[in-house]
Amino acid sequence: MNRRYRKTIIAGNWKMNKTLTETKAFAEAFKPLLNRPKWCEVVLCVPYVNLQAAIRLFKDSKVSIGAESCHYESTGAFTGEVSPEMLKDIGVKYVIIGHSERRQYYNETDVTVNKKVKAALEAGLQPIICVGESLEQREMGVTMDLISYQVRCALSGVPAEKMRKVVFAYEPIWAIGTGKTATSAEAQEVCEGIRTIIRKKYGARVARSVTIQYGGSMNPKNAFELLSQPDVDGGLIGGASLKPDQFMDIINAANQE
Ligand code: PGA
Repeated sequence: MNRRYRKTIIAGNWKMNKTLTETKAFAEAFKPLLNRPKWCEVVLCVPYVNLQAAIRLFKDSKVSIGAESCHYESTGAFTGEVSPEMLKDIGVKYVIIGHSERRQYYNETDVTVNKKVKAALEAGLQPIICVGESLEQREMGVTMDLISYQVRCALSGVPAEKMRKVVFAYEPIWAIGTGKTATSAEAQEVCEGIRTIIRKKYGARVARSVTIQYGGSMNPKNAFELLSQPDVDGGLIGGASLKPDQFMDIINAANQE
């Protein structure tokens, strides 16, 4: 983390978990734990159907609400889809784009990621752009080549002045939901690499202001060590964000002195 130049953001990614009833129960248990986060911003990305309830439930707290995906068009014949404008209109602040599960199961490509990033920014949302390699790619030694390609595609056509709103999440696919975490050195190496790519494109001032999270089995035990790395500015948390006490422990790790 480097709080001098950029925000630390701890974001939960609920994926396809929690009914409306469970969302309410989570808010009831979690809000009392939230003794005003000192330095980090807290975000909860929840299923579309629970967005409005979550926004209402966390209205008087420091928690911002995010969606887990969006379409790249603002309106049209796209049955089952939700546009960035629709999300913005109900008070959504963040949107996860290019999560590996969407790349794997729903045909998300680097081209659609780029379109969605531009559409989200246009609508006034803050994209959390996910990038990350598979185990095979890591073993082949092409991690940084792949990450560089993903980052440059995602940012194609994004002007420097919009970069203040962009968040990256480095999520090695082999660490997601597996209980296997990247070492803090591995996380730092790739997060630093992402910042270098941003620096080459936009210059040092923009690069140092961008929040770059790590995601992949982050939990209360490993969060402190990962977040102590200079270029790891937060976490995108799946499993551990479903439990109020565990999610809070990670937030506390981000509020370390
Ligand atoms: P995990 O998920 O924390 O359960 O590994 C992270 C993510 O997919 O964003």
